[in-house]
Amino acid sequence: MIATPLDLIGCTPLVALDRIHDGPGRIVAKAEFLHPGGSVKDRAAKAILLAARQDGRLTPGMPVVEMTSGNMGAGLAVVCASLGHPFIATMSAGNSPARARMMEGLGARVVLVGQVDGSPGQVTGADVAAAADAAARIARDEGGFYVDQFNAAEGITAHETGTGREILEQLGGPVDGWVASVGTGCTFMGVARALKAAAPATLCAAVEPQGSAPLAGKPVTKARHIVQGVGYGLVPPHWDAALMDLSLEVTDAEVAHWHHRLAVREGLYVGYSAAANVCAAAKLLASGRLRADATVATVLCDTGLKY
Ligand SMILES: Cc1ncc(COP(=O)(O)O)c(C=O)c1O
Repeated sequence: MIATPLDLIGCTPLVALDRIHDGPGRIVAKAEFLHPGGSVKDRAAKAILLAARQDGRLTPGMPVVEMTSGNMGAGLAVVCASLGHPFIATMSAGNSPARARMMEGLGARVVLVGQVDGSPGQVTGADVAAAADAAARIARDEGGFYVDQFNAAEGITAHETGTGREILEQLGGPVDGWVASVGTGCTFMGVARALKAAAPATLCAAVEPQGSAPLAGKPVTKARHIVQGVGYGLVPPHWDAALMDLSLEVTDAEVAHWHHRLAVREGLYVGYSAAANVCAAAKLLASGRLRADATVATVLCDTGLKY
């Protein structure tokens, strides 16, 4: 069968990480970095834009505008190129310049927004809010479609009907545990919904940077961390707390350690949120909350080449 470029989004392989974790239990991970935009966010980008075209909010040739840490922007740039829309991205200047280069390479106009209280490589909630304000303003001024990923329900559905169901199909049945770090929360919530629908006992853990764990109900004491794209110190607007059984915290040092291990022991050069997820999956297996031979699923959110 001949595919279209948009068909490259979704149906990623589920990889067993048996060298990095050789038991007891098993860690399996969706290889989301294989998407054309290089991250898990391609799924939300495709779902939101296709839904908006379907119901007429996005008309042919209309500009698309979004605030991004880079990954949603790369996904949107891919989908916009493929559907014929100009794309304007606003991004905090604290995110890695490699992301801006990739979006520009895909034809996007990138507007860098100065940081409020973060620093290069460490982007805070206030930095993200400033970039979101800029996106909403540009969309208004230029008559564009504002994607608003933090409030778009299609992002969650994409993971429920896509990523979550794919995990169940690829494993041939339910999974014991699910862990994912949280940006908009679309990945965590959508997959948790699908996995809990198949097996209500599936233990679902949100991954949070230590010191920036509002989902665990803790005050934010360390807004800066190395896990770009997640852990903004905010509860996302459409967060469904009923889907989270627990929160697992990871330190910058742990994330850096697992980032290196994934590269040198599995040949997977992925980003920091992927490393945070795998670190948390190992913690969940070691916690004693699951049976000894449990399988924990997670996502390898993006490629490490964007950092
Ligand atoms: C690198 C990275 N990992 C994980 C995520 C989290 O995905 P979600 O927004 O679905 O929570 C993002 C979101 O932008 C990201 O950029």
